[in-house]
Amino acid sequence: MYKTKMKPDLNVNELFPEIMQIKNEEYRKLIDTIWQELWHTSNWVDINDLPISPKITYPHIPHNRAVVQMAIHVADVFESIHNVTVNRDILIAAALLQDASKLVEFGPTEDGKVEYTKIGSTYPHAFWGTYLAIKFGLPDEICEIILDHTPDSARFPKSMEGKILYYVDQLDVIATYKDRWKKETTVHLYK
Ligand SMILES: [Fe+2]
Repeated sequence: MYKTKMKPDLNVNELFPEIMQIKNEEYRKLIDTIWQELWHTSNWVDINDLPISPKITYPHIPHNRAVVQMAIHVADVFESIHNVTVNRDILIAAALLQDASKLVEFGPTEDGKVEYTKIGSTYPHAFWGTYLAIKFGLPDEICEIILDHTPDSARFPKSMEGKILYYVDQLDVIATYKDRWKKETTVHLYK
């Protein structure tokens, strides 16, 4: 479908130092593998040029870091105040993978704009990242969060970890772009 571009590997540990908080070594290795695979099949030359989306020009990497850090802070509060356990490995691994397929969903044009690629215009956002996560053997709990993390998904993520990520992701879009949500009244029947 596309060929590997010759360029240096990404330094995933430097881009996302939070990866070291993941205890499972296999998850850390697979996160790096998936980012490298996406990076080397993308047309991006500088990772800092990757935007949140073709529409939201704010750079993706600081958005991603904000999402992972906010998610960790929410987990801290849930655990210290409510004694609610959050699986940190699942939370952080999903935070680092849920948007990785943006690398191949859109790319730079020759006139300096950003456009959707064949993958990005064919499949819904996060489908390709989910496919790679399944292919490389990450657990279903992580793959499901990647698939359902986007508002375009038909349903909310199932787990506590997925729901934390869903809401902090949307919060960060308010900071980096704008509030995209409106409230609508729904009438529910008593049963
Ligand atoms: Fe996303």
